[in-house]
Amino acid sequence: MLEIRNLHARIGDREILRGIDLVVKPGEVHAIMGPNGSGKSTLSYILAGKDDYEVTEGDILFNGESILEMEPNERATAGLFLAFQYPIEIPGVASMTFLRAALNAKRKANGEAEITTPEFMRVVKEASAKLNISPDMLKRPVNVGFSGGEKKRNEVLQMALLEPKVAILDETDSGLDIDALKVVAEGVNALRSPDRAFVVITHYQRLLDHIVPDIVHVLSAGRIVQTGGKELAFDLEKNGYAAYVSDAA
Ligand SMILES: Nc1ncnc2c1ncn2[C@@H]1O[C@H](COP(=O)(O)OP(=O)(O)OP(=O)(O)O)[C@@H](O)[C@H]1O
Ligand SMILES: [Mg+2]
Repeated sequence: MLEIRNLHARIGDREILRGIDLVVKPGEVHAIMGPNGSGKSTLSYILAGKDDYEVTEGDILFNGESILEMEPNERATAGLFLAFQYPIEIPGVASMTFLRAALNAKRKANGEAEITTPEFMRVVKEASAKLNISPDMLKRPVNVGFSGGEKKRNEVLQMALLEPKVAILDETDSGLDIDALKVVAEGVNALRSPDRAFVVITHYQRLLDHIVPDIVHVLSAGRIVQTGGKELAFDLEKNGYAAYVSDAA
């Protein structure tokens, strides 16, 4: 469903991704781990379609079609969802308004009618309650003044409402307290399904206790240098990256 082929990308004259190959099938959960600066967030930005990056080689296929020429909003309506490491603030736009606009954009792209107010209120209330997001927070501008953990939960709320086909979560666990980590993981697990896939970027094996991955990859210096099962995350936690990064550097 998501296939990354020999992806090379640069920013300015600096090559950051140096040949990434990754195949994500429906129903799978992949985890990407790797040292700071190895290119994890860069990969998620490029998937989202952020235009600071230049793809110099390779391709990204979503359901068999290249997305490189697609605008970020087209990628989103096609079913790709990105939760960023640093969620952006949108002053002046209430979270509720934002969620409804995002949901309606997706429905419109799928040829569906706009969601009615009562129906929208019902789905938001249900999804936000599961994530311990108060109605008060939804009245505030998107992410403005939200604590780190509140921003992360808000991202998962967006994901729950948009029901993407592939969700990429960049360090959605960072900054979460122990309870919030469980809440977010439950939010993700509730969405796991045979026709939906996740790519979870994380530094900590702990998250993977809650969101159990099928496949774990190690990214180092812009390449995937190791791929394994969930036991690979335990090995990394115990021994660090030394065994994997030396041959990539
Ligand atoms: N705009 C930019 N200009 C110059 N270098 C950049 C830019 N954006 C990213 N980089 C560099 O690209 C490399 C990869 O960054 P990236 O954010 O993808 O790392 P990461 O794997 O997500 O790290 P972390 O674990 O710390 O989040 C880093 O060395 C970073 O400094
Ligand atoms: Mg990062």
